[in-house]
Amino acid sequence: MSQNRSENTQSPAAATPVAVTGAEGFIGSHLVEALVATGQRVRAMVQYNSFSDFGWLETLPQDVLSEVEVVLGDVRDPGSVTGLVKGAEAVYHLAALIAIPYSYRAPHSYVDTNVTGTLNVLEAVRHLEIPRLVHTSTSETYGTAQTVPITEDHPINTQSPYAASKAGGDRLADSYHASFGTPVVTLRPFNTFGPRQSMRAVIPTVIGQVAAGERTVTLGDLRPTRDFTYVKDTAAAFLAVGTAPAADVVGRTFNAGTGGEISVGDLVALVGKLMDTDLDVCEDTQRVRPADSEVMRLVCDASRLRAATGWAPAHSLEEGLEHTIAFFRDPANLARYKTDIYNV
Ligand SMILES: NC(=O)c1ccc[n+]([C@@H]2O[C@H](COP(=O)([O-])OP(=O)(O)OC[C@H]3O[C@@H](n4cnc5c(N)ncnc54)[C@H](O)[C@@H]3O)[C@@H](O)[C@H]2O)c1
Repeated sequence: MSQNRSENTQSPAAATPVAVTGAEGFIGSHLVEALVATGQRVRAMVQYNSFSDFGWLETLPQDVLSEVEVVLGDVRDPGSVTGLVKGAEAVYHLAALIAIPYSYRAPHSYVDTNVTGTLNVLEAVRHLEIPRLVHTSTSETYGTAQTVPITEDHPINTQSPYAASKAGGDRLADSYHASFGTPVVTLRPFNTFGPRQSMRAVIPTVIGQVAAGERTVTLGDLRPTRDFTYVKDTAAAFLAVGTAPAADVVGRTFNAGTGGEISVGDLVALVGKLMDTDLDVCEDTQRVRPADSEVMRLVCDASRLRAATGWAPAHSLEEGLEHTIAFFRDPANLARYKTDIYNV
């Protein structure tokens, strides 16, 4: 892993890189691995921090890291984004603030990161004439399903500041394609899970607490249902829309999800079975969202993505959970988490 301290320095490698924002995060780090596995050089934005902490990128194998150039930066800063994407053959924009509960507390930062940050990426891609931008949306923009499974034509109904800020980024992406012909494709993943996910999400919360020796897991509402997609399948969906012929994907939005549905309560029971543990659940009122903000049901129709790219999930929920459980049972991984607090 090399680190680029200057905004405009080119990668030392001859190959044209692809640029990734949010590269040090959960999905971003898996996407970086998937890109390198297909022979790509990756220029990876890691959000500047005073610890020189490169997040999950630090845990990737050396043969992957040798193809990754880290650029410390911030999507809220236009120059930072320009330096990242200059000369890239494609940009995968994943950087975002993603926690719904924290979006109740700090909504301005969500607009700065998810709306203005996306605007900065669009401007850089437009002016530097980058051939492909993959913008990341979320199933949360649909709100509670009005019809199932949810297609891309389902109404947008933003029930949290997080969802609203992501929808704002989506609308900007659409407008840049319509106004300037910016070659943007929007991927809308449904709930993604797997190794490296933070304990703000429900699956790591349950597995992490059990792996840490708890038999009573503390959660919010058990009724909502979700369509959980294993992270390697989500990364494959990014690659699919990032590499498909432009005529098939540019200017379009694609759902990525399995079409399966499970409630949080049934998920806890399944994890308990797979971890061979009888689990009790303690509902923590501070984790329960305001009634009109909680998205009660999300189920994906990914047929548009399948038709355009051939993408299909390769992992069942149980397989993905087994991989995630193995990850959390490794003490070195578990040590990176705070299992005894509410991770907002
Ligand atoms: N995890 C899911 O279930 C899910 C579902 C749908 C969509 N998404 C979207 O996928 C993307 C990745 O999410 P994730 O689950 O990997 O979350 P994550 O929090 O692990 O990753 C987000 C990354 O963005 C970075 N970031 C935040 N602010 C930044 C800034 N100002 N400048 C540069 N980088 C910044 C963070 O450091 C982090 O590494 C997000 O756009 C999210 O909205 C996630």
